[in-house]
Amino acid sequence: MTLIFSSAQPRLNSIATGVKLALGLSLLMLGSAQATTITPPKPAPVLLPADWNRVVNPVPMDAAMEAKITELLNKLSLEHKVGQMIQPHIGAVTPEEIKTYNIGSILNGGGQNPNDNPNSTQQDWVQMAERFYQASMSTEHGRTPIPVVWGIDAVHGHSNMVGATLFPHNIALGATRNPALAKALGALTAKEVYATGQDWDFAPTLAVARDDRWGRAYESFSEDSELVAQMGGKMIEGLQGTAGTKEFLAATKVLATAKHFIGDGATGFGDDQGYAEGEEQALLRMHLPGYISALNVGVQTVMASYSSWNGIHAHANARLMNELLKGQLGFDGFIVSDWQAISHMPGCSLDNCPEAVNAGVDLFMIPNAPDWKTFHANVVAQVKAGVINPARIDDAVRRILRVKMRQGLFTRPSPAQRAAATAGAVGAPEHRALARQAVRESLVLLKNTGVLPIKPKTKVLVTGAGANNLSRQSGGWSVTWQGLNVPNDKFPGATSIYTGLAHALKAVGGTAELSEQGTFTNKPDLAVVVIGENAYAETHGDIQNLATLELEGGSKTGLKLIQSLKAQGIPVVAVLLSGRPLWVNKELNLADAFVAAWQPGTEGAGVADVLVAKIDGAPNADFNGRLSFSWPATPCQTPLNKGDADYKPLFAFDYGLRYNSPITPWQALSEDTSAYALGCRLKNQLPAAKQQTFKPQDGWNWKIELPTFTQSAVPATLGPLTVKPLDEGLSATWSGKGEARLILRNNKTPRHDLLAALGHRGALAIDLKLLAPVTEKQGVDVRVWSSPLTAGVVDISKLLAAWPQGKYQTLSIDLACFAKEFTDFSKVDGPFALQAKLALAVEVKNLRYEPDLAKTASISCSN
Ligand code: BGC
Ligand code: BGC
Repeated sequence: MTLIFSSAQPRLNSIATGVKLALGLSLLMLGSAQATTITPPKPAPVLLPADWNRVVNPVPMDAAMEAKITELLNKLSLEHKVGQMIQPHIGAVTPEEIKTYNIGSILNGGGQNPNDNPNSTQQDWVQMAERFYQASMSTEHGRTPIPVVWGIDAVHGHSNMVGATLFPHNIALGATRNPALAKALGALTAKEVYATGQDWDFAPTLAVARDDRWGRAYESFSEDSELVAQMGGKMIEGLQGTAGTKEFLAATKVLATAKHFIGDGATGFGDDQGYAEGEEQALLRMHLPGYISALNVGVQTVMASYSSWNGIHAHANARLMNELLKGQLGFDGFIVSDWQAISHMPGCSLDNCPEAVNAGVDLFMIPNAPDWKTFHANVVAQVKAGVINPARIDDAVRRILRVKMRQGLFTRPSPAQRAAATAGAVGAPEHRALARQAVRESLVLLKNTGVLPIKPKTKVLVTGAGANNLSRQSGGWSVTWQGLNVPNDKFPGATSIYTGLAHALKAVGGTAELSEQGTFTNKPDLAVVVIGENAYAETHGDIQNLATLELEGGSKTGLKLIQSLKAQGIPVVAVLLSGRPLWVNKELNLADAFVAAWQPGTEGAGVADVLVAKIDGAPNADFNGRLSFSWPATPCQTPLNKGDADYKPLFAFDYGLRYNSPITPWQALSEDTSAYALGCRLKNQLPAAKQQTFKPQDGWNWKIELPTFTQSAVPATLGPLTVKPLDEGLSATWSGKGEARLILRNNKTPRHDLLAALGHRGALAIDLKLLAPVTEKQGVDVRVWSSPLTAGVVDISKLLAAWPQGKYQTLSIDLACFAKEFTDFSKVDGPFALQAKLALAVEVKNLRYEPDLAKTASISCSN
C-alpha cells in the first residue's frame, strides 16, 4: 500500500488538473483492494532568499515529553486519533460526543456564544468550557483522557464577549509603531480569554494587505511586511508569554495563531479568499516575514489561508505547509484549517478532503454536524484504504498533543477552577486604560488648519453617524462576527467618541452637544463630525463590482453633513472611522482638520485625549500615529504600496502630522470622479452590450449540489433532488426532504468575469414552468455564486406563488439584487442556482444574461 499523496506540484497553475487528480483519488478509493502507488514528481525545494532571516525556535523539543506523547499515541485507536484532529463548533457537538469521538478541539466562530445567548456572562462561558473539558478528561470505560482545547477569535480583545475590552484593530496598531504596546495588548487579550475558559486565540492576523479593497485590510498591521513582523511577533509574545521564561503558556496565557498562511493579503483586486499570483521568491519576501517573527517567539499554531497561491489552494499546498513551514522552517506546532475551508478545494467537500490532510493540515475546523462526523468516518476509511498514510495521522496528532502538553493543558486549572482567580478580568479598568492608550497612539492627523487642539471653553457639536455609535467605532469582529449595527447597550462599560469628548470638554469649561443629524439648539463654535464606514468582516467588506475606494460613493451622507455645517460658518473637525484608507478628497478639502481614527474600539475617550487641549490651551496629548498604509489620491488608486515603482500617494506611508507640524495653506485636491463610474475594475471601457448564454461546449454543465457541496452530474437523483433532461431544458423535482440546488457550473474555467453584464444593468433570465403550486413560505431562491462559497441570494417564493401552473414564463432578476449581497461578479463560479428546501417541481430552459433589463426585470433592485 503506502501512498503519500502530494499533489502540490502537479497542480501548479491548474485548477483543472486538480479536479482530475481528485477524480483519480476517488477511483483509487473505490479500488482500494489493489493498492496503487503514485510517485509524484519531487518538487524543487522552496528557495528562500539568500539573505533570509533564519528561524531560531525558542521552544526546543523535549525528549521526555516526546516519549510521553508516544506512550499516549500507542493507547489510541485510529478512530480516537482522528477525533483529535477535529474541531466542531460549540453548538454542533455535545460533551457526550467529545467523549465518544475523542474530539481534540472546539471553537466558537465570530459572534457565537454559549447557548446561543449573546448576553452570556463570564460564568456561562466558564460553565460551558468546564462541561467540555470534563467530558474530554473522562476516564469512563477505560477512556484515555486528553484535554479538549477551545479556540476563539479574540482579534482585537475578547471580541465575542459582551463587556470585554476592545482595542483598535491591527491597522491602527500598525499606526502606533509601538511593538511593546502590541505585546501588552496581547497579554490583555490572553487574560480576558483565559478568564472565560478558553485556551487558544485565533490571532494575530499576519496578513500584509496589499490592496485596500480587501474586506480584511483592517486585520492587517500594515501593507509593509517589516512592520507586520515587528508588531506580529510581539503580539504573539503577549498572548503566549515569552518563550524560555516561566510565564510561557502559563496561567493567564493562551495559544496564539499565526494566520492566514500564506498570502491572504496578496490576492488580486483585494478579493477575500482570492488568488495570489506571482514569482515565488517575491511573494515569500513580502508575506513570510510575519511568520518568521511568529516562529522566532515560538508561536504554537498556524491557520491556513482561504486564498490560493499560484493556482494552489493554501489548504492543499504541501510545498508551503509540509516543506517550507514544517520542514525548512522547523515549525513543530500544528496547522489548523480555516472555517469550512476544505470545501473550497477542487475535488473536496465540507466533509471530505484527504488532500488537505496529506498537504499538512493537522486540525480540521469543520464547524457543523453532521459534516465533522462524516469527515471523521472519511478520514478513518481513507487511512484504511491507503489514501492517507497512517504516519501522517500520527504526525498530526503528535503535534496537537505536543502543543497541549507544552501549554500544560493536562495539568492547568480547569476552567471552573480558574474562575475565582480571574473574576473581574473581562473589561478590567487597567485593560480599558491600555486600550485607550492604543486609541490615543493610533490616531493619524491628516490635515489641520489650526482648529486642533480644541481650545478650553469651546462649545462643540458632536455629530455624524459614528459620533455615538459603538458598533461603528469598533468595526467587524465586535460582539457579532460582522459587528454591524450592534446596539450600544451590547457594549457595557464602553465609551463612545461623543461621551469621551463631553467628559474632556467639561473638564476645561467647554460643552458637547450630541446630534447625529447635525441639528443644534445653540450655534456651536465648532463641530466634530464622525464620518466613515459601517462595520464589516471578511468578504462582506470587500470593495468590489462597480464600487471604488470613495467613502460613501452613493449617499455622501458624511460629506453633506460637513457641507451643511460649513455653509453655516461652523468650523469642522472630521474624524474618519474606517478599516482602511479611503478616497476622501471632497471631505478633506472641506474640513478644517481631518483625523484618521480607524476603528478605535470600546475606549472612545482616547480620541478626546488628543483632540481636546488642556486648560492652558496646550495639547493634552500629541498626535503620534503614522500611516501604516499609503493613502490614495484617486478613487481607484489601489494597489498602492510603499516601494511601488510609480509611488504617488496622496499621503505616503509613514505620514502623520503633529501639533508642532508647520501649518501650510491647503492645496485643493481633485474631486473628479467621472473616470470611475464603472468602478475600479471596469474603468470606463465597457464592452458592447450583448446577451450571454451558457453553452455546454464552453464547459457549462448542470449539476445537483447539496449544501455540503457534494455534487452530481445531471441527470441524476442526489438527496432530495431529481433532475432529468427534456428535449429542451430540464425538469427538476425536489422531494421536500432536505435542501438542494440545481446549479450551473463550468468544468473548463472555474471563474467567470460577469462584471460587464452588471455594468450593462443586466438581468439574469430563465424560462420557468411550475408543475405544482408554490407558496410564499416555500423558501425557493435563486443564487449567483462567486468563488468560493459566497452567494448573492434572492428569494423568489413570493413571486412564484402568484404564477400560473403548467405554462412557461420568464423569470428575470436584476443582477444588482445579487451584487447587493457579497457576490463578486468578477469571479462567478455558479452564474445560476435554483435552491429549495420544500417540495418543488419545475421545468426550466434558456438561461441567459440580458443587458439593459435591470429596471424592468420581474425582480428589480435598481432605481
Ligand atoms: C476566518 C478566520 C477565523 C475563523 C473562525 C474564518 O472565517 O477566516 O480568521 O479565525 O473563521 O471564526
Ligand atoms: C466565520 C465565522 C462566523 C461564521 C458565521 C464564518 O465564515 O468565519 O467566524 O462565525 O461564518 O456564520
